[in-house]
Amino acid sequence: MPKHYTGLIEKYRERLPVAADTAVISLSEGATPLIELMNVPRLARRDVRLFAKFEGLNPTGSFKDRGMTMAVTKAVEAGARAIICASTGNTSAAAAAYAARAGIACFVLIPEGKIALGKLSQAMMHGSVVIQIRGNFDDGMRLVQEVAKTMPVNIVNSINPYRLQGQKTIAFEVIEALGDAPEYHALPVGNAGNITAHWIGYSESVCQNTRACALCAGNCGYHRKKIATRRPIMVGYQAAGAAPILRQRPVENPETVATAIRIGNPVSWQQALAAQQESDGWFGECTDEEILRAQKLLAETEGIFCEPASAAALAGVLKDLDAGRMREGSTIVCTLTGHGLKDPDIAIAQSVKPLTVEAELRAIEHVIRSYLPK
Ligand code: F0G
Repeated sequence: MPKHYTGLIEKYRERLPVAADTAVISLSEGATPLIELMNVPRLARRDVRLFAKFEGLNPTGSFKDRGMTMAVTKAVEAGARAIICASTGNTSAAAAAYAARAGIACFVLIPEGKIALGKLSQAMMHGSVVIQIRGNFDDGMRLVQEVAKTMPVNIVNSINPYRLQGQKTIAFEVIEALGDAPEYHALPVGNAGNITAHWIGYSESVCQNTRACALCAGNCGYHRKKIATRRPIMVGYQAAGAAPILRQRPVENPETVATAIRIGNPVSWQQALAAQQESDGWFGECTDEEILRAQKLLAETEGIFCEPASAAALAGVLKDLDAGRMREGSTIVCTLTGHGLKDPDIAIAQSVKPLTVEAELRAIEHVIRSYLPK
């Protein structure tokens, strides 16, 4: 086995559905940093330990790589020569990259005009066949399922169970970094695969059978390995204009600045509800304004640039701390699902415009004088 890190399948082989001789398609995804926020809790005057699991640092810039290494590995193992997905952008970027690596074809269905520029550029650059549909993600998801019945294409959306298997490893990494599960784990929810995957990962890390464990006196596999002693309370945040789970009905025309989670009828709805209920968690919503404010706060006070959808996790946590819904003194992890560079248009639109001056020393001095902290 190579000494350098070669991705999450090699690392967690025993806990993933792969055989010893499975040929792995990997871009060394996973092993993302868990960054403790130093300034946000202080500015919010909250006594909590707040961590960001920065999934934007995966090879294609989002958590989708965790699922895609598994989905493409298993597709190739099964002899597939083409994969397909519907996407709000990140899934298509990851599918395109892993398909390129595997040397298979990739078809992506995206809502026309509604995916961030960086993501579109990725799908195009990696050579996938990009099909823009005059419809939204939910239309694309339906079409992908229909077309897979008649055409030789392997679906790599999160209805593909291998996607969730790959994505569950985020929980393993959080537990390793903290020594146990956090009290709360917050994340944005769109198609609801990721919250489902987090919950699978946490659930596989604790002893499920407390009665047997009382008998085993700490000698069962889970206790012996001391993976985790608890599971977190799962908190999922949706954009206010695309919050079907919260409203308990599909949203026909979902709308939000966080295009990644612009989804009105999530495929893993029931599994997400189960994760929420089993963990005593809840779903919350954030307005576009709250999402963008949290994105800017992270960028300006912590140096972390995530995309709008990812910031929904922090926006929601700050609200729920204010509302007293999350306990002071607790440890909270937010999954920052994607990198801010994915969506440069949004970043530029909400930032101070660059100054333009003559290429002269005096002009530069003048600017510095005006902006130096007093
Ligand atoms: N955050 C980002 C950055 C995403 O791209 C997505 C989903 C989510 C959160 C929500 O995760 O769907 O598992 O609940 N993006 C999908 C895509 C839908 O096509 O890229 P989820």
